[in-house]
Amino acid sequence: MSEQETILIMNFGSQYAQLIARRVRECEVFSEIIPHTLKAEEIKRRAPKGIIMSGGPASVYADNAPKCDPAILDLGIPVLGICYGMQLGSQILGAKVKGAARREYGRTQMNVLDDSDLFAGLHGELTVWMSHGDQVESVSSDFETLANSKTCPNAAVRIRSKRFYGVQFHPEVTHTPQGMKILGNFVHGICGCGNHWRMEDFIKSEVAAIRERVGDKRVVCGLSGGVDSSVAAVLIWKAIGDRLKCIFVDNGLLRAREARSVEDTFRNHFPMNLEVVDASERFLTRLQGVTDPEKKRKIIGHEFIAVFRDVAAKVQGAQFLAQGTLYPDAIESAAAHAGGTTAVIKTHHNVGGLPAELGFELLEPFRMLFKDEVRRIGTALGLPDEIVWRHPFPGPGLAVRVLGEVTKERLDVLRQADSIFIDEIREAGLYRAIAQAFAVLLPVSTVGVMGDERTYQNVVALRAVQTEDFMTADWFRMPDEVLARMSNRIVNEVKGVNRVVYDISTKPPSTIEWE
Ligand code: XMP
Repeated sequence: MSEQETILIMNFGSQYAQLIARRVRECEVFSEIIPHTLKAEEIKRRAPKGIIMSGGPASVYADNAPKCDPAILDLGIPVLGICYGMQLGSQILGAKVKGAARREYGRTQMNVLDDSDLFAGLHGELTVWMSHGDQVESVSSDFETLANSKTCPNAAVRIRSKRFYGVQFHPEVTHTPQGMKILGNFVHGICGCGNHWRMEDFIKSEVAAIRERVGDKRVVCGLSGGVDSSVAAVLIWKAIGDRLKCIFVDNGLLRAREARSVEDTFRNHFPMNLEVVDASERFLTRLQGVTDPEKKRKIIGHEFIAVFRDVAAKVQGAQFLAQGTLYPDAIESAAAHAGGTTAVIKTHHNVGGLPAELGFELLEPFRMLFKDEVRRIGTALGLPDEIVWRHPFPGPGLAVRVLGEVTKERLDVLRQADSIFIDEIREAGLYRAIAQAFAVLLPVSTVGVMGDERTYQNVVALRAVQTEDFMTADWFRMPDEVLARMSNRIVNEVKGVNRVVYDISTKPPSTIEWE
């Protein structure tokens, strides 16, 4: 491990530190996030090929601004400071940092003045993402300006003798289109890292870490059939085999054939210890007469915990609970727990997972990763595409898609319509182009005519969205002929439905789910 080429990312409280780490992994280089308090001596001992100092919310001249050991800049190891990291590094090396006359936030045009190393292969104007109130103002003669913008004379700087580089913008975000090229220039060109790190390396080191942590104890895992929990289960199974017990709770709110297909997939591909618990009666009984979406969520959340607890209690020696928590989930729930600055729009009970009172230690191998990285791991572990590329499915399942009261009959109507919708999407080759798609059963009846008869039946809404992060979303432009086939099949094949509508709302102001 010690010979592994590593980039250390010094975290100054940036929301982007993990994103930087992830971009370095995309450059096929191993990276590790370290606290900004780590001393130069310790860094030297770890012998990284380079250091990236992250951004952060503070001003370098604020009293409690996070600092670093200035001797780090004398180690001869290349350092890239991003935003706050640039300001701090530059300040240590003798520059003046001042509040900018105008806060810069968002997309800006920047001119590259020197394309010899950090900006190799990039010329002229670049679009970059700025987000700062301070900037490096006057620099000493050691500084070379590599780029400037209208409002920022030192948008990128270099001190050759110290191997220090600073950028005022964020190369790690997608709003800086050439950001990966710039980070690649830093890690490969300046730090001299090769392209050695692979997702398989993550799997190897994580399997070893899980074995070591779990020892001879057991792990329980709530398998939902979604990407994250499935990949987590397989990874842990690789590490500890039969000492992992997976529990799949059929809550009666699943899509057509879902419980069956999850069971088959796992039994056929991975002979793991899996128990499928049919608890549908329990859930449906508790949901009787309930129409309020938040109440539905609470009931389902509580019931799930109760069922899970009963089954897990029978697993002798179980000390760990495995969850497929991703980095963005961890951030969101941390924000939600940190004092409620984020308004609760919907209680997503999977975020934060099962409660601490279950008494397990958490095993969350993907806590530092992003969804597409988990997909890559899934593929590397041999999970079928059908699971790896599955659209997300909410914990409360179809209960929040049968608007109003949830009954077995209404669930069955929805299941049939939903399955036609998804089949047609697959048939048209559109499944991967859509982030999430589902049908919703509305609590209204409309008039129709079938043969010579007047009908008064259900309306089904179809929703398909495109999104990167599920925080904002646009409706999917479904081709007419595909919509026509879907609607035709649904009204003809699903008893009790005489009308189909397609949802053309964006998020915000709508949400993706209807409840
Ligand atoms: P919204 O409707 O908030 O959905 O735009 C964003 C994403 O979250 C999923 N979602 C949930 N997931 N429990 C979950 O596990 C929930 O209660 C829940 N509500 C919404 C939704 O399917 C979409 O992917």
